[in-house]
Amino acid sequence: NQPPWPAYRGYHEYSFAHATMGVRLPTILAKAINDVYQTLNQEYDEGRVLDLLDCVERMQQLMDDLHGNAKLRPIVDDGAGDVALWNKEIAKFFRGKDFMNAPWLFAEAYKYRRLRECFSLSKYWVEYDVFFRQKCDTFSRSAQAVFELAARFSEPQQIQSSTEKNKLIFLELTQICLWGNSTDLSLLIDMTEEDIKNLQSTGGEHLAATEKNILGNDLHKLADYVLTLKGGRVDFVLDNAGFELYCDLVYADWLIQAGICSQIVFHGKRIPWFVSDVTRKDWDWILNTACLHGHLFEDAPEEDMHQLRAMGRRWKQYEKEGKWKYEQHPFWCTGFSFWDLNNEAPDLFQYLSESDLVIFKGDLNHRKLTYDCHFPIQSTFPNAIGPMASDPGAPPVCSLRTIKSDVVVGIPEEVGARLDEEEPGWKISGKYAVVLLSAGNKG
Ligand code: F6P
Ligand code: MG
Repeated sequence: NQPPWPAYRGYHEYSFAHATMGVRLPTILAKAINDVYQTLNQEYDEGRVLDLLDCVERMQQLMDDLHGNAKLRPIVDDGAGDVALWNKEIAKFFRGKDFMNAPWLFAEAYKYRRLRECFSLSKYWVEYDVFFRQKCDTFSRSAQAVFELAARFSEPQQIQSSTEKNKLIFLELTQICLWGNSTDLSLLIDMTEEDIKNLQSTGGEHLAATEKNILGNDLHKLADYVLTLKGGRVDFVLDNAGFELYCDLVYADWLIQAGICSQIVFHGKRIPWFVSDVTRKDWDWILNTACLHGHLFEDAPEEDMHQLRAMGRRWKQYEKEGKWKYEQHPFWCTGFSFWDLNNEAPDLFQYLSESDLVIFKGDLNHRKLTYDCHFPIQSTFPNAIGPMASDPGAPPVCSLRTIKSDVVVGIPEEVGARLDEEEPGWKISGKYAVVLLSAGNKG
């Protein structure tokens, strides 16, 4: 199962793959090592200290492998349950390949699995997440947008029977959910509070202006479909923790309150992944700590906190009642693209095919949907996602993605050509986005 276009690879100097493999990944790893040192300095038990130092040594080995462009070796069996899947993929497709000449999508995912191995081989630090500190910290610096949304959506919504009004709210929330993807931490390594505010602006005027940056825009088609649902099921294949997840939850909350959905399934990652992706711990943290019981926003007025907590309580209730479900299938943390989802994880495909709509959030999910290859820009979205659109049982799929890497589809050729000329770098700036829909093949 593969499209007729070559995948991006680290040695393609014209592509973001090159900068990512050569510079960004080592930078991210160096920052991760600093995080471990911070933890180490707060530890006092000698056994745990020594065990953590062994983790650092393995991280340093990974750093050498990245710098030296080493061959991709099998993952050491750490009993994690996904090792066979990883090693099968390495042996079958990437034997003898190194970080730069393996497909970018695979090599980058492999780096995060190797990072996991640094800890999974330890005695005390198996669950350690080197990105957890940054994820929490960035959310705590997102107060303004967090409270703006809480002020609007914390009270139970009076859902308007007029479909026109519903449609407007839906369009607005979809955009909030889309642009929430701008705050991915793997690109924004040193963000100031001001940067965060600009990225998270949720006002109506701002959203009207940003709609013109949605280059492939199925927003209205999406609204027309979703607003016909009653008591349906929507799945979110999540991307980033913190503010993006918060926006996803506000959106999902509205879908429940509007009666559009009776169930929402959220799909997260089993291991720390591409810096800011949601793990079960991030999920629990945002509900329990950030929204409900914590003291994250020190100077926040009582009224703001009251609204945030009310929302958090409602969300916990959804979870208790099974209206919201958090799942973490191992397939999401492999190097496979979603062209292989049905082949490699038929149980997951079957499960997704029971959904009325599967929303894939973010850039990485989009790369995986489109095989991260040189698709011509005007390719249609259903074409570009192959089996996820055409296999029998394929559910309706929507990609909400701010564009941060090379593969772009669903856009008129001339728009791409103009941007190439006027704004080199437009594919990695995160300024532009796509909202693309495939109807699926449920028959
Ligand atoms: O490292 C590359 C990348 O996968 C890009 O595609 C993107 O810049 C980033 O990492 C992750 O973005 P997102 O969190 O939106 O998937
Ligand atoms: Mg991400």
